[in-house]
Amino acid sequence: MDTRKVYIETYGCQMNLADTELLLGLLKPHGYEPTQVAAQADVILLNTCAIREHAEEKVMRRLGNLVRYKAQRPGVLLGLMGCMAQHHREKLLDKAPFLDLVLGPDAYHNLPVLLAQEDKDEPLVAVRLDRDETYADISPVRAEGVRAWVTAMRGCDKFCTFCIVPYVRGRERSVPLDALLEQVRELAAQGYKEVVYLGQTVNAYHDGDCDFSDLLRRTAAIEGIERIRFTSPHPSDMSERVIEAMATCPKVAPYLHLPLQAASNRVLERMERGYTVEQYAALVERLRAAVPGLALSTDIIVGFPGEEEADFRATYDFMAEIHYDSAFMFKYSAREGTKAYKWGETLSEEEKGRRLQEIIALQERISGELNRQTIGQTVEVLVEGPAKRQKGWLAGKSGQFKTVVFPGNSARPGDLVPVLVVSATAHTLVGEARR
Ligand code: SAH
Ligand code: SF4
Ligand code: F3S
Repeated sequence: MDTRKVYIETYGCQMNLADTELLLGLLKPHGYEPTQVAAQADVILLNTCAIREHAEEKVMRRLGNLVRYKAQRPGVLLGLMGCMAQHHREKLLDKAPFLDLVLGPDAYHNLPVLLAQEDKDEPLVAVRLDRDETYADISPVRAEGVRAWVTAMRGCDKFCTFCIVPYVRGRERSVPLDALLEQVRELAAQGYKEVVYLGQTVNAYHDGDCDFSDLLRRTAAIEGIERIRFTSPHPSDMSERVIEAMATCPKVAPYLHLPLQAASNRVLERMERGYTVEQYAALVERLRAAVPGLALSTDIIVGFPGEEEADFRATYDFMAEIHYDSAFMFKYSAREGTKAYKWGETLSEEEKGRRLQEIIALQERISGELNRQTIGQTVEVLVEGPAKRQKGWLAGKSGQFKTVVFPGNSARPGDLVPVLVVSATAHTLVGEARR
């Protein structure tokens, strides 16, 4: 069989990174090998994100740039995969008539079939959402390393009023528990040390009577896997059983990404997030009591339609009080098709920008302070490889998911090394290995 080369560029969240590994897994039996060089590829795919307008604009610019490979090498196919494909469907062909393929997140099984078709003159669009598709039959081709992303559930049923995800990813569905555990056992055998379970509301995972806490516990029993993480849990699905599993399984890392979005009940209600500020705060208190040393990160949106200065101040004050270790902060972006889109925008880009800058500065201060508090402590680092900036140094993550760099010793990728923290910035801990 001829080998053909496929080049995939990935945008958006970790779910998309995992889907790219899935796409490579789907194509492998059909003779396609991955390449890092677009100019050498027979098939060029962009795996796209639709979460904010910015993300989409970036992809459109990139497409304009990649189209030259089609001109240079006749026969090269250019495809747009993922959430943006699902969002705009055929309409994408108006803006980018040179596209050969437009495939939504549940239509990837069509890819090898479409590529094998003789007649490729007409662009092919496949965007049927399928509430049963979990790709449990596909072995992803994973990037080498110590950490493996494992998709535990797909889709979302929450329909927060600002969010495009339920429309582009379809209904929530979980990968069967046995298929997941089998996958993780294989990963352990291949030498991976950490698994990260993925899903838009990953803690809503369920298979029959088994819930997410069962998945965590059963995974913790797999020999060779040293650390377990997951993202993103939804605050409303953070059950006592899941908290218990976090508290009692030492392999489950003491780190949680718990998206807040806003800390004004008025705004949360209009976002239809399904919790109040008080409920969220009580959850954080419960989590911190159960899991000592728990690190927390979050997502915040500023400038949601109708967000008043007082609402924004409430979010600011809440962040100052909770002390997140880190935060992903965004300006609201209106997404066509969502409920909030119909409400229009109530704030200028400048005002949204001012609010964003304010919380970014606040968070930068808090992250720096929290990181400096770890100076003098010894943290356990899962070594990933050479540090980017300092020659001869190693880098890895602590249990709290903080990046730690230290002068190299005999440690190898995949080792768990105790490291004494000697200095810190808002983004990195600098240390010395204790052995
Ligand atoms: N399922 C996750 C979030 C996935 S999207 C959860 O509910 O926690 C990642 C983040 O993007 C969201 O948490 C939100 O902060 C941000 N986001 C989603 N839609 C957005 C929009 N229309 N404008 C700006 N930010 C948005
Ligand atoms: Fe979007 Fe809300 Fe679903 Fe998260 S829970 S993916 S924010 S709709
Ligand atoms: Fe973007 Fe789709 Fe993820 S919209 S954030 S890539 S699920």
